[in-house]
Formats: sequence, C-alpha cells, structure tokens
Amino acid sequence: MTDSKDEALKEEILRLKKEKGAIILAHYYQQGPIQDIADYIGDSLALAQKAAAIKDAEVIVMCGVHFMGETVKVLCPGKKVLMPDLEAGCSLADSCPADAFETFVKAHPDHTVISYVNTSLGVKALSDVLVTSGNARKIVESFPADAKLIFGPDRNLGGYINSVTGRDMLLWDGACHVHERFSAERIARLKEEHPGAPVLVHPECKRAVVLMADKVGSTAALLEYAINSPEQKFIVATESGILHEMQKKCPGKTFIAAPPTDSTCGCNDCSFMKLNTLEKLRNCLRDGKPEVIVDPELARKALVPIERMLELSK
Ligand code: 13P
Ligand code: SF4
Repeated sequence: MTDSKDEALKEEILRLKKEKGAIILAHYYQQGPIQDIADYIGDSLALAQKAAAIKDAEVIVMCGVHFMGETVKVLCPGKKVLMPDLEAGCSLADSCPADAFETFVKAHPDHTVISYVNTSLGVKALSDVLVTSGNARKIVESFPADAKLIFGPDRNLGGYINSVTGRDMLLWDGACHVHERFSAERIARLKEEHPGAPVLVHPECKRAVVLMADKVGSTAALLEYAINSPEQKFIVATESGILHEMQKKCPGKTFIAAPPTDSTCGCNDCSFMKLNTLEKLRNCLRDGKPEVIVDPELARKALVPIERMLELSK
C-alpha cells in the first residue's frame, strides 16, 4: 500500500520536476525514497559545490535542512529555491545565535573566524571563511600555524580539528543533538559482537567516540571508505540516513547503525532531516512554495566566506 503510494508520488514528482524546470538536491541524511528520486545526493560540501555550478535549472529544491537551503539561495540568488519543509532546522545551528556569536567574535578582534556551514546566515555573515566536515582540516591548515583562530559552532568538530592539526582554536560551545548521543560504551559492545568491523565516525561525535574510530570523516568520506574497504561489516556512528546509500553502493556488505546512549533502538535519526517527506516534496514542486527567502544584506555578506570556502576546497 505504502509502496504504491510512494510510486505514485514519485511519478508525480518526476512530472512536476520536468514541467517546472527543477533540479532536486538531497543530503545523505534524507529518507531513502527522497535520496532515490533526487538528481543529486551528497554531503554538505558536495551540495554547496553542486549548487554553485547549476546553470540550467529555474528552480532548485533542497531536500535537507534550512541552513542548506539558505546556502543554495546565497549561491544562486536568481533562482527559486524551495524546501519541502522550512521547519527543518538544525540543533547545531540553533546552538549559536548570531548576536551571542557577534559578542564572542568582538571579544577577540585579532582572531580569524572559521565557521561550520551548519549555521544561520547571521553567523555566516560574521565569519571570514566557512568549512564543512569534509574540508575543515584542509581549510584550517591553509592558515599559518601560529594564526589566531576562532572555530564555531561545533565544539566536537573544532576539538577534533585541533587534535589532528595541533592548533589551539578558540571553540564555540555548540553541538549537534544527534551526534552527541552516540555512546563509546555501546560502540565498544558492538565491537565485541562484531570483531574486526571498522568503526566509521562523523567528527560531530564526542571525543570518546572519535577515539574509537577506524575512519573519521564527513558522510561522503565515510561512504567512500566503506566502498573501498575490503571489510564486509561496518559500525556506523552518524545519522542513519547514510546507511541507505552505503547499502546501495555496497550491496553485499553489512552496516550496523551505532545506537544512541539513551535509547534501545538501533538507529540515530535527525528529526529535522526526517521532516521532509515525498509528499511534502511533491507539494513544494506543485505549489512553488515554501520558498527560501534570505535577507539581501546578510546574503551579500555571507557569500564572501562561502565563496572563500569553495575556492579553498579546490
Ligand atoms: P556532512 O554533510 O558534512 O557530512 O555533515 C553532516 C551534517 O551534520 C549535515 O547536517
Ligand atoms: Fe543539524 Fe545534527 Fe541534524 Fe545535521 S544531524 S542537521 S548537524 S541537528
């Protein structure tokens, strides 16, 4: 029943997409059916790079969370940017209000400000350069070893980058509620149950979890590792949506979602990412809304660090 409903929705989405001259981008944390129907799936960096390169579409539908839609709109100001659900926010972005971040930045006027893309436009506008989990190390290392740096808002990603680069960046005290939930104890138990299975960890996880990793990386980097590894079984500590593409790309391999501390379920979902559904995707294409609208002044300021990131990622 659900399958036939999904199939009907997918047909309608494909028809509307053609009719409206739209392109659909989706993050790896989206529900499987949305990833399957998207024109392009990727991690935050790949999605920003793709958006910057889009020439031929009138309408871009960003299936992800709000900061991703804003980034697309800033990069493509002349295009209509839609999202299935504008309420799809991000606890990490919310952990860094722009006014408080401005006070922090002003208290350290001699520091360069490096921000994760998981931020509001207001925070981006206060930043010198942005990073994603896929390019953070490279971009931080592009600054002289003795450069004074602020890194916000993710204390876990910032702490991880400090540890691998030997830097001492000042960290904003923010975190992602999904990645903070992974438990080192429960991963240790899984390792006992599945000896030899590499542990794949997103750097938004706490240090105790990162220390257990065989591979630390962005969703795209973890996927790449799984594809290229000769191992057949993997323990995955990031949002469970990535398992969909891992399973598709590696049909014979087994992926075990690391469980959160406070739950008996085997998954770890971002409730914001999962707000998007096929039905809402169909509706936004059909109705031409909800549309991502950005403040033009903030967008103008935020474009500078976004473009700097894209340049430094080449
Ligand atoms: P990446 O897309 O860089 O892997 O980051 C994951 C994330 O938290 C997106 O919200
Ligand atoms: Fe934000 Fe975390 Fe959800 Fe990513 S997984 S969108 S960082 S709340």
